[in-house]
Amino acid sequence: MDTFATLLVLCGVMSLALGVPPIWTQPEQIHISYPGSPGSMLITWITLNKTDSVVEYGVWGGKLFELTAKGQAALFEDGGSEKRTMFIHRVLLRELKPGVPYVYHCGSDLGWSDIFYFTALRERVDWSPRFALYGDMGNENPQSLARLQKDTQVRMYDAILHIGDFAYDMDEDNARIGDQFMRQVESIAAYVPYMTCPGNHENTYNFSNYRNRFSMPGNTESMWYSWNIGPVHIISFSTEVYFYTNYGLDLLFKQYQWLQKDLEEANRPENRAQRPWIITMGHRPMYCSNADKDDCTEFNSHVRTGLNDTTPPAPGLEDLFYRYGVDLEVWAHEHSYERLWPVYNYTVFNGSLNEPYVNPKAPVHIITGSAGCRERTDPFVPEHRPWSAFRSSDYGYARMQVFNSSHLYLEQVSDDQYGKAIDSMWLVKDKHGPEAWL
Ligand SMILES: [Fe+2]
Repeated sequence: MDTFATLLVLCGVMSLALGVPPIWTQPEQIHISYPGSPGSMLITWITLNKTDSVVEYGVWGGKLFELTAKGQAALFEDGGSEKRTMFIHRVLLRELKPGVPYVYHCGSDLGWSDIFYFTALRERVDWSPRFALYGDMGNENPQSLARLQKDTQVRMYDAILHIGDFAYDMDEDNARIGDQFMRQVESIAAYVPYMTCPGNHENTYNFSNYRNRFSMPGNTESMWYSWNIGPVHIISFSTEVYFYTNYGLDLLFKQYQWLQKDLEEANRPENRAQRPWIITMGHRPMYCSNADKDDCTEFNSHVRTGLNDTTPPAPGLEDLFYRYGVDLEVWAHEHSYERLWPVYNYTVFNGSLNEPYVNPKAPVHIITGSAGCRERTDPFVPEHRPWSAFRSSDYGYARMQVFNSSHLYLEQVSDDQYGKAIDSMWLVKDKHGPEAWL
């Protein structure tokens, strides 16, 4: 061994002995999201030491890394006893060509990620976006993840909606569980916009891991926002404002006002004509027939009817969504799948006896929260609820495609049954908006 090599080894031994942390500038936990403005995509990742934030990219099949975009890194300090820190990098890509696949890597001259690809979202309203949707996926027992990876790799989805509850929980082990989970979902989230809403498992330190790690549109740190894709307006919100009022009851009212304004805007005739479908995603459902004591098993669930022990009383969401003609409401939290008949105020409003989902007279609810986590799946009460159409406690997730202004298809995939579609629904609407209920 020459003198230089001996010196290097000595330095290494000394830094280990002194507990000096290694320099860690390699990007990890890469994920992408749609920031809401046409032609854009936001790339987010983490390094443990500070580096520049650079994305090199180019059109698939063209010259590799022809384009460069730079962004910012924000220091995040976890709330746990170790006060672990990490740098969260965000780089916005602009002027992407609609429908065109791009290849990218991210990082800096101190370390680059693997190469990933994504397709820039189309801007027109007349295309048929495809989604995977699910909630409640943990770092332990994420049973659906492998199947979702394969689906994603064959480019089956244009966006993924993760309807709350991540990692179980991101803050645990001084946020190392969050790191591990974000590394696990990189295999899907680096390839398609990974759009989220918060769930109860994110609540620690006032949702700080959730608020910092994800990069959703708007300026609410991913808590509530809306975005457009094809003929659909998607509204994501926090059901947790009804439960963690210790973080501020004002948040509940603030979100409610925002929801009302957003729904009003989406319902302006010129907007609804362009994007007839309004789909909401929130973690805890208003209805469910699971055999537990969750909020959705209560007739007056908080999410459905609000809180009456606050001053002033806090409004629930069922009336609001009905009033503005929301077409489809997707939920999770229950570790199972349940499809409801079109329902409002516990009354079924099927389109007709033979075709319940053709021109229904109330919103349709889907609960899909069995992607897989350490808490396993949730059973149902044996009795049949009149508003419940289909239920399953298999592990799995939903796929949805919005074909055009009148036709939406949704199916539930069972991972336990090797990818079999165990349920499906065509939601057909000649009319959207509150006038569709008449
Ligand atoms: Fe939950």
